[in-house]
Amino acid sequence: MRSDRGDRGESLIDRVGSPLPSPFEGDQEAAWIEVIRKMDEVYADLLRYETDLEEKNTALEEAQAFISSVIESVSDILIVCDRNGIILQVNPAAMRLLGASADALVEHPLGELVDPADRARIEDLLRAHSPSDLIALEVRFVTARGLSDLYAINGATRADQAARRVGTVLTGRPIGELRRAYEALHTAHSELQRAQRQLVEQEKMASLGRLVAGVAHELNNPISFIYGNIHTLQRYRERMAAYLQAIHCGADPAEVEALRRELKIDALLADYASLIEGTLEGAMRVSDVVKNLRRLSFPKSGEIQRVDVDRVVRTAARWAARAKPGHVELTFDMAADVAIIGNEGQFHQIVVNLVDNAIDAVRGQSEPRIEISARRQGSDVVIAVADNGPGLADGLIDKIFEPFFTTKPVGEGTGLGLWISYGIAREHGGTLAASNRPGGGALFTLTLAAP
Ligand SMILES: Nc1ncnc2c1ncn2[C@@H]1O[C@H](COP(=O)(O)OP(=O)(O)OP(=O)(O)O)[C@@H](O)[C@H]1O
Ligand SMILES: [Mg+2]
Repeated sequence: MRSDRGDRGESLIDRVGSPLPSPFEGDQEAAWIEVIRKMDEVYADLLRYETDLEEKNTALEEAQAFISSVIESVSDILIVCDRNGIILQVNPAAMRLLGASADALVEHPLGELVDPADRARIEDLLRAHSPSDLIALEVRFVTARGLSDLYAINGATRADQAARRVGTVLTGRPIGELRRAYEALHTAHSELQRAQRQLVEQEKMASLGRLVAGVAHELNNPISFIYGNIHTLQRYRERMAAYLQAIHCGADPAEVEALRRELKIDALLADYASLIEGTLEGAMRVSDVVKNLRRLSFPKSGEIQRVDVDRVVRTAARWAARAKPGHVELTFDMAADVAIIGNEGQFHQIVVNLVDNAIDAVRGQSEPRIEISARRQGSDVVIAVADNGPGLADGLIDKIFEPFFTTKPVGEGTGLGLWISYGIAREHGGTLAASNRPGGGALFTLTLAAP
């Protein structure tokens, strides 16, 4: 709507110029001038309105172009439906997905464009909801090329200015790719967990192997001297039998006396006591080892009980030391009657792991030494394993508790010992910390709750 008036600033009065010679006089002429002025004002207003309207129209066109460009560049599909689920508008992404033009899609029921298996759900979504409802579901569309990938659809109720529901706005994006990536990630994660479990099992088998080697060593010593003593006793029995045989057969006293000297019966009798004592001690040591083993294997995993720290630490340290070649001086500084509340087998495993590491660390020292101590500290018990090895290199302290972290050559360490020990300590509500001793060597501190 544009005025054909060329010069918009010109008023009617300007055009009319000085009043024409008029047939009217006085009042009549003034009235006419007033009418013309009013018309002039109305005309100026009209002109202003027209300019306003044109500006608003331009702004509206720009806004519309902006919205259209946004909608067109959105990669998600956008479908607007009326309250009966009939399509009113679609964006280019939806047209591309469905393989149809806007004209073909508009006025089509949306339900018919969805996989029959998902139809009931999408129709539920298209039914009445309060304007604030936002519903999400996953569907496949029937496209010109067959069933589409899976789409995650969000539906929001569209309301008019009076907040009455007039339809639904649906947006959607394909999640098939995402889902496949997620499944691949999930499979990889499960595989990793399985491999990790397997390694932990292997590590358990390896520590069981070390344990068995330690036990075998522990048993070997008493068994070998029981064995030796029994051999000696067997020889003594034969000599004693020969001596008694001579007496029972009525040999004369000189003969008996000669036999007594020959068979060294007096020395034999004097030796009996220590032989039997030694054999008994050996048997008791075997019995102690077996008792410790039974204690270790009988508690069900996770069984919590009062554990005598001194006994378990000494047994564990000895077994760990015996399982490795070479001599290491082990010293114990154990406060009396110290106990913890926990699982004996797991506590034993931590000490074996710490002593095991300490033995590896002190290898190569001229006087390899490991000091183990236990003391009560408030409501806790602190067990410390210190060695005179090279200590922990800078930046290593943060890493050593990570699974599979090892500085040992392949085949000599899995890097799981400290990780497992740390986990056990944490499960017991305690802590395991590493540091370097001021005088050199590493110090591992296990803190567990006292009873
Ligand atoms: N007492 C120690 N002194 C110096 N370094 C240590 C000591 N204890 C542990 N470490 C370092 O921490 C690393 C991790 O120890 P961890 O017990 O977890 O694994 P590992 O001994 O290498 O292998 P695994 O115990 O599984 O046989 C070791 O490789 C070693 O570098
Ligand atoms: Mg280790």
